Amino acid sequence: MARKLAAGNWKMNGLAADLAEVERLWAAHPSPRCEVLICPPATLLSRMAERLRDTTYFVGGQDCHSGESGAHTGDISARMLLDAGASHVILGHSERRADHAETDAMVRDKALAAQAAGLTSIICVGETEAQRDAGDALPTVKAQLSGSLPDDPALLVVAYEPVWAIGSGRTPTLDDIARVHGAMRETLAIRFGPAADDIPLLYGGSVKPANAAEIFGVPNVDGALVGGASLTADEFGEIIAALG
Ligand code: G3P
Repeated sequence: MARKLAAGNWKMNGLAADLAEVERLWAAHPSPRCEVLICPPATLLSRMAERLRDTTYFVGGQDCHSGESGAHTGDISARMLLDAGASHVILGHSERRADHAETDAMVRDKALAAQAAGLTSIICVGETEAQRDAGDALPTVKAQLSGSLPDDPALLVVAYEPVWAIGSGRTPTLDDIARVHGAMRETLAIRFGPAADDIPLLYGGSVKPANAAEIFGVPNVDGALVGGASLTADEFGEIIAALG
């Protein structure tokens, strides 16, 4: 049985003043039944980890390099994230796949580096609107997942984020989410056997307080990866409460 996880992806949002939001969140939800993770921009990571040190909340990065150290200006290694207080890292988000031409093979290499450092990878997959309209959502997601997975099912979370649902206010039908999450579980089972059941599968893309509960009721949805609604304690708090 996979753990329940509510994960917030702050993307390129947040200044020091916004750290007060996570303290408000913790004050309002000090003992959630699900795991709670917030992934701020790298500039806030260590300060957020410090503020949440005495809580059960986790803090994560939004990307890492596949190498351990060296001449990679602007990049951050998995060990550096760990050193800053992170426990998780988001990998292969569609915005990074689009903005930085990240391929499945690159995402897999990053996941291997994250595992080696002891970080939990949240591997993101999802089809574009054109792929969906062509009826290719399932094969696209399965191929991305197969190509991005590391060899070991430990320290792994998978997030299904249809690109067209991100920040758009649109979401797939509950049946569509069930179909894709079922296919992801199958792909993981073919690769990892029974350990696949323990891998949390998150849905991401316009998750809001108004739709969270129904999405969490879908089979094989173990939580959410939330963008915009994770920026405010009130909205993210409602999503956490809906999960558990
Ligand atoms: O990683 C979270 C994400 O891409 C979804 O963003 O703003 O649609 O919740 P949003």
